[in-house]
Amino acid sequence: MIDAIRADLLQWFTNDARDLPWRRTRDPYAIMVAEVMLQQTQVDRVIPKYQAFLAAFPTIEALAAAPTAEVIRLWAGLGYNRRAVNLQRAAQAIVTRHGGRVPDSVAALRALPGIGPYTAGAIACFAFEQDVAFLDTNIRRVVRRLCVGPDHAAAATEAELLAHAEALIPPGQGWVWNQAIMELGALICTATNPACWRCPLRRHCRAYAAAVAADTALAETM
Ligand code: ADE
Repeated sequence: MIDAIRADLLQWFTNDARDLPWRRTRDPYAIMVAEVMLQQTQVDRVIPKYQAFLAAFPTIEALAAAPTAEVIRLWAGLGYNRRAVNLQRAAQAIVTRHGGRVPDSVAALRALPGIGPYTAGAIACFAFEQDVAFLDTNIRRVVRRLCVGPDHAAAATEAELLAHAEALIPPGQGWVWNQAIMELGALICTATNPACWRCPLRRHCRAYAAAVAADTALAETM
């Protein structure tokens, strides 16, 4: 059962995933920049800003030493400038406290300015390939529908959803699994009008089963 869920999603990701620049690197600094940018901004808007930012500040030392006004200038268009200021402060803390190396433990990452549970988990997973679970809006929605039920009936706590997310991760494949579940939430299992008819997890999904049982279009039950 869980093996089929994992196989079906990973197969879909292999065939249908977008080619995103931060999926081509394991540089922890680049991934930290990407994940902070992606916290509140759409992928399409992030891509050019991510590339320009890394061109201007290619290393963590370069970001740490830059004038803050210059960091904010390169952040323009992303919004929430506070994220840029915190990102630079995190870079400075990494240079002074960690010898310029992004820490690989979730606990040490969380101690950095602006790094919450989502970003710490994403860096541990996407830079260091750890099998850690974390929830962003996309992962949270996919896990809730798949493991709990339709949106209107889904009274699950954050801890329960995190436990489900953790249990789903195929051992040793946390990187690809978390990218894939995030991608499913972005492309198929969207907040409104999810494209269940082309979802690779349809046959495993509690929300979909509830919609079929109620004989309603899934969008109406969600
Ligand atoms: N949103 C946040 N992190 C992301 C990632 N690694 N890929 C795509 N979208 C994301």
